[in-house]
Amino acid sequence: MADNDYDPGLLAGPILYYNEAVIDHFTNPRNVGELGPDETDGFGLVGDPECGDQLKLWIKVRSERIVKIAFKSYGCPGAIATSSMLTTLAQGKSVMEAKRLSDDDVIEALGGIPAQKRHCSLLGVRALLAALIDWEQHQTGGEDH
Ligand code: FES
Repeated sequence: MADNDYDPGLLAGPILYYNEAVIDHFTNPRNVGELGPDETDGFGLVGDPECGDQLKLWIKVRSERIVKIAFKSYGCPGAIATSSMLTTLAQGKSVMEAKRLSDDDVIEALGGIPAQKRHCSLLGVRALLAALIDWEQHQTGGEDH
């Protein structure tokens, strides 16, 4: 075989089948970006030590409700899609409601995700929790945050 011949068998790896909702959130992620200092009431940064992926998440909170949320992912398609869906689930929720969001909620909202990618949904859930704890720690009592 010549050097430039392509043998698909040599490059074949595991193929993961994502449903349309996952592909939609991966290719058109919601709430991507970051909030500026004037809007950031809570910030979370988490990483997955297994794969090295990382997630940053910002929240703006008013009257104990998430009124704005944004994320940046340095991760796989599963991490991007699940984080995107997580932000849509968290937007508008009270702090207490948002704390109860789980990786199962995210996966269910997406209609499922390949088994090998289930752990990716934890990144967003953990980042949101970190941002909520950050918000709590900045409460001074009396501020409308
Ligand atoms: Fe690392 Fe998906 S493989 S978060």
